[in-house]
Amino acid sequence: MSVDLRTRYLGLDLAHPIVASASPLTGSIDSLKRLQDAGIAAVVLPSLFEEQIEHDEMSAHNLMMYGAELSPEAQGFFPEMQYSTGPDKYLQLIADAKKALRVPVIASLNGYTPGGWTGIARKFQEAGADALELNVYFLAASIDDTSAEVEARYVELVESVTRQVSIPVAVKVAPYFSAMANMAARLAKAGARGLVLFNRFLQPDIALEELEVAPRLVLSTSDELRLALRWIAILRGRVDVSLAATGGAHTPDDVLKLLLAGADCVMLASSLLTKGPKHVGALVRGIEAWMREREYASVAQLKGSLSQESCPDPDAFERANYMKALKSYTSEFV
Ligand SMILES: Cc1cc2nc3c(=O)[nH]c(=O)nc-3n(C[C@H](O)[C@H](O)[C@H](O)COP(=O)(O)O)c2cc1C
Repeated sequence: MSVDLRTRYLGLDLAHPIVASASPLTGSIDSLKRLQDAGIAAVVLPSLFEEQIEHDEMSAHNLMMYGAELSPEAQGFFPEMQYSTGPDKYLQLIADAKKALRVPVIASLNGYTPGGWTGIARKFQEAGADALELNVYFLAASIDDTSAEVEARYVELVESVTRQVSIPVAVKVAPYFSAMANMAARLAKAGARGLVLFNRFLQPDIALEELEVAPRLVLSTSDELRLALRWIAILRGRVDVSLAATGGAHTPDDVLKLLLAGADCVMLASSLLTKGPKHVGALVRGIEAWMREREYASVAQLKGSLSQESCPDPDAFERANYMKALKSYTSEFV
């Protein structure tokens, strides 16, 4: 039996659901080509940061420092970093990627304030991007900012980007909202055609030797995917947007779970950085084999079949059988 792996994300036709998330691996034409040769369905370029557009290179510099902390295997896959470059080079990367690749190219913009810098979105479109991913990387640390103000700022930012372009815009957000489902609906109303769940904030660490606050990038593990899994399952069918999962997808089983929850595509950074582009083939073969064994004819048939709307135990996605799970926990010390 042949299995139809095709999916649609942001109105784009993808050969299968595995997409390369923004990371240094999507930052040069060489490694983009390697991803395409390995069978990736689409690519998200590394972000151009608001600070880069506003001529403050701080964030970009920090990100490069984090890169230096990766494992030697990960560093082996690092192309020349895109993060230190300004808007012109970024626009060139979009144009070159479009020329070099057959798969859709999604450009990424990373910022947190509605303002003039968002005008660059139009240039992304002119450079040929098939879609735009807006990563809103903002931590509400001020005691004076209310949640309503923070949320309004998100909406304003999304509106200010979406009104500049006709290509689809996906918004990559963190999960830290009091009312995530309502926020998702408001982002859709502001013009987002897709949500990328979730942004993974880098958590600072403290270096005890140096007594310094140290940025530390730790790659994900499969355990992390359950946060996106829950929210994708809850939002599937309720908010009219494409849903991409990011964070913790490493194995064919991880991808299958996210598809069953309702993801339109699954984005990967850590697993490609550690295993290299060839991992795409192993994932595609793995999901295909599982689907064939279970007699699923297509990803369309599989997608969302265990979303909250469709599954027999919808409560499991909310309190997650909280009491039962706690009570059933055992350890040799209790
Ligand atoms: C070294 C590195 C650089 C990244 N750069 C970006 C970026 O420029 N823009 C962005 O939106 N996400 C960026 N991310 C986040 C990834 O796209 C992805 O959302 C996150 O790592 C979670 O997915 P994973 O578990 O597959 O790694 C980066 C991640 C890593 C590890």
